[in-house]
Amino acid sequence: MNKMTLRDIEVTDKRVLVRVDFNVPIDIHTGAITDDSRIRATLPTIQYLIERNARVILISHLGRPKGKVVDELRLTPVAQRLSQILGQQVGVAVNCIGPEVEKSVETLRDGDVLLLENLRFHSDEETGSADFAKALARLGDVFVNDAFGTSHRAHASIAGIAQYLPAVAGLLLEKEINTLGGILEKPVPPFISVFGGAKVSDKVNMLKNIMGKVDCLLIGGGMAATFLKAKSYEVGRSLIEEESVGIAAKIMEEASKSRVRIILPVDVVIADEITTEAKGEVISVENIPPDKRIVDIGPETLEKFRIALLGGRTVFWNGPMGVEEIPQFAEGTKCLVRLLTDLNATTIIGGGSTAEVINAMGMADKVTFVSTGGGASLKFLGGEELPGVVALLDKGS
Ligand code: 3PG
Ligand code: MG
Repeated sequence: MNKMTLRDIEVTDKRVLVRVDFNVPIDIHTGAITDDSRIRATLPTIQYLIERNARVILISHLGRPKGKVVDELRLTPVAQRLSQILGQQVGVAVNCIGPEVEKSVETLRDGDVLLLENLRFHSDEETGSADFAKALARLGDVFVNDAFGTSHRAHASIAGIAQYLPAVAGLLLEKEINTLGGILEKPVPPFISVFGGAKVSDKVNMLKNIMGKVDCLLIGGGMAATFLKAKSYEVGRSLIEEESVGIAAKIMEEASKSRVRIILPVDVVIADEITTEAKGEVISVENIPPDKRIVDIGPETLEKFRIALLGGRTVFWNGPMGVEEIPQFAEGTKCLVRLLTDLNATTIIGGGSTAEVINAMGMADKVTFVSTGGGASLKFLGGEELPGVVALLDKGS
């Protein structure tokens, strides 16, 4: 990465304002955090700062409260979880800007950690307001961006603050950029990418950007229906994006020109509806009835994927293989997790729902890297510059 990191600056005795992505999934019924991996992923940065006697001021969003205070989206449970993991009390401020918050920051001692309240309780955060960015910047002497998962947003706390404080990358941000960037720069061949998830449109840029580097593409999940349709298969009532059928056809054409192998499902699980009661049935892709939907990949497909994956030295996976929220349609996705964890290869998992599945299975430590970025990793791998990274000081500056 050609950006400065917190290792390049003096942090001792400084007020260090750290943007983190603590946008963790929360159970709507119990309010419990269901996956704390985004919190854990920031520990290297937080501990680095504590060890050097910095005063650590963490800022984050949670959910999409759209400029209003929403009690369910307060960061208190996140602070509690962070306190447990760190083994050190982490306070929560009443707000993220203003005189009261400034007072709380003044009382911090070296090595203390304070989490400010949800940035998105202010609409100025998402509009990227300069005044809001300045109000945040007043709280710190230096700014560290460790929120890789939000770095595709040009928000006040991501790109704005960097105009007013010396701004560097945190250790998580650095690791994300180096690891994901490594896939684009010099993946050890054979390089295999597995794509799933609902929409082709989300992944078009990434598919195009990766095409010149990859040796083999495995396609499952909802988006497989669009590819199958492009090959004139009947896909029943599977959700397909009409406008993406042509794109899928082009991608397959390009792949065959550049000798990239594409493996599509040969069998799938189909169901009447996508509900928790629905029953699945395995069927060949040649025989999908017009009144059914594809909800997962089938066992024969998994076997094909397994054999292909065995030949890979670098494997990147993004997007579930089926409707992973419904247990009876999550098998393909879970089997793929197991296949990946058995490989003798560099295995990298994109963030979002793919990361949630592997975290829930407790197998994240059995792959090389699990990204904390959903949208951010798609954009980054699609070749876009991330505003949160662009804003940071260049190495050597
Ligand atoms: C994410 O979960 O993808 C990030 O935290 C960004 O959240 P957003 O999609 O609401 O901007
Ligand atoms: Mg999101």
